[in-house]
Amino acid sequence: AIERTLSIIKPDAVAKNVIGEIYSRFEKAGLRIVAAKMAHLSREQAEGFYAVHRERPFFNDLVSFMISGPVMIQALEGENAIAKHRDIMGATNPAQAAPGTIRADFAQSIDENAVHGSDGADTAAQEIAYFFAANELCPRTR
Ligand code: CMP
Repeated sequence: AIERTLSIIKPDAVAKNVIGEIYSRFEKAGLRIVAAKMAHLSREQAEGFYAVHRERPFFNDLVSFMISGPVMIQALEGENAIAKHRDIMGATNPAQAAPGTIRADFAQSIDENAVHGSDGADTAAQEIAYFFAANELCPRTR
């Protein structure tokens, strides 16, 4: 089925100047960008986005990292988009990410791991709505 998922290119990858290379991987995988914005998140925005991780030991480091520089946020659309996006990102820990995945190629650690992707249909809908109003989504008409 055609799905949508939320992608974030994190501050480490933005700093490395590889937004275009990562977009190219989305496009080659058949994922279309249907909304996009660059933002330098506030602490409140980052904490709200990662609220499910609030009790995890890495929460404060995660939030500090996510506000350390601008991020590129996009909604991606395509067949089986949620799983496809997770496949091309690779494992959360880049040390375990398969060769050729975004994290294997651009991430250095589990904390600074280049990209975020929604992990399921419910979180995808929730995460897209967190950053984009309905009228900011631009489905293809041709
Ligand atoms: P992300 O998909 O953005 O969701 C939460 C982030 O927390 C995750 O990517 C990692 O970058 C970060 N993180 C740090 N330590 C861990 C851990 N032990 N398990 C899962 N995520 C972690």
